Amino acid sequence: MAAFGIPSLSPELEALISGGLADVESVLTERIEGKYLFANETSRHLVVAGGKRFRPLITILGSMVGTGINENVIKAAAVCELTHLATLYHDDVMDEAPLRRGVESANSRWGNSVAILTGDYLFAKMSQILAELGPEAVKLQADTFERLVIGQILETQGPSANEDPLEHYLRVVADKTGSLIATSLRFGSMFAGCSKAEIETLTEFGEKIGIAFQLADDIIDIASDSLDSGKTPGTDLREGIPTLVTLNAMKSSDPNDASLKLALSAPIKSEEKVQWVINELRGHKAMAESRAQLQRFAKDARTALAALPISESSSALFSLCDLVIDRVG
Ligand code: IPE
Ligand code: IPE
Ligand code: MG
Ligand code: MG
Repeated sequence: MAAFGIPSLSPELEALISGGLADVESVLTERIEGKYLFANETSRHLVVAGGKRFRPLITILGSMVGTGINENVIKAAAVCELTHLATLYHDDVMDEAPLRRGVESANSRWGNSVAILTGDYLFAKMSQILAELGPEAVKLQADTFERLVIGQILETQGPSANEDPLEHYLRVVADKTGSLIATSLRFGSMFAGCSKAEIETLTEFGEKIGIAFQLADDIIDIASDSLDSGKTPGTDLREGIPTLVTLNAMKSSDPNDASLKLALSAPIKSEEKVQWVINELRGHKAMAESRAQLQRFAKDARTALAALPISESSSALFSLCDLVIDRVG
């Protein structure tokens, strides 16, 4: 299968992308290695478990709008993946998630302290690579990471009394996920000599496809089973984190939805109730509404990209918008 399933890539471009992704893998595995065997084991755990490598892929695609892959592009792609991966170690502690990338989560396997410290270890190893990319890259990563962390904090805090819950949610999504995906494209384009206008276009596109990517992920938390996602469905429900589908369901004025809305108003601790709520939501009009909203956000991302001249690399980025939607089935 082509990278992330992107259709109709020329064999030449596909070979370049695969070669670039393989180089990123080498950087990841070599550079996370340190002197302490246990830290090597706990950090390798989720690196080798795989994942979609979406951020490295779009860093590489972004570079192809300019002069293409080079050593700094590969290092930047690894920086984005390691930043992402470190936040997953922390996120699974926050979300008490038992499964990640199809394997036992680090918190489930070694406990919260080791999972948190492994996330920190990965930040340290990421920073060693980042330092080689110069001060501008360090500043960009730091600003991005600030946004990502604030997104996670805002999600934990929830909306304030006078804030619209959907607006709050969309801000969280932009900050926790849009930020790093935007920066992946920014890195790729800036290290490949793109013009200022191209860099800005790609960054804006990244932010928007990043939002769509997280909306899809949140729909998948309800709509799919763990074989597809590598994660345990219903994690957001157990934690009482409102997401697109539940926010839409909460707006319903249908009296038949009263018990569903009551269940959604707090973390759901009983497994039986989680399964009941998942089944209700899967057939609920809130699900169809959420899919339609996802389509609109993906279209927004496409529109942002329209400023770029048509090329094989920009077409591949366009295709990614469809693929993000296709993930929700
Ligand atoms: C999971 O990211 C967290 C989100 C921001 C949605 P991915 O869906 O990219 O996870 P991996 O890297 O493929 O495991
Ligand atoms: C994770 O969001 C986003 C970050 C790690 C910044 P989620 O909690 O929705 O992601 P998953 O579903 O656990 O991958
Ligand atoms: Mg999570
Ligand atoms: Mg989370």
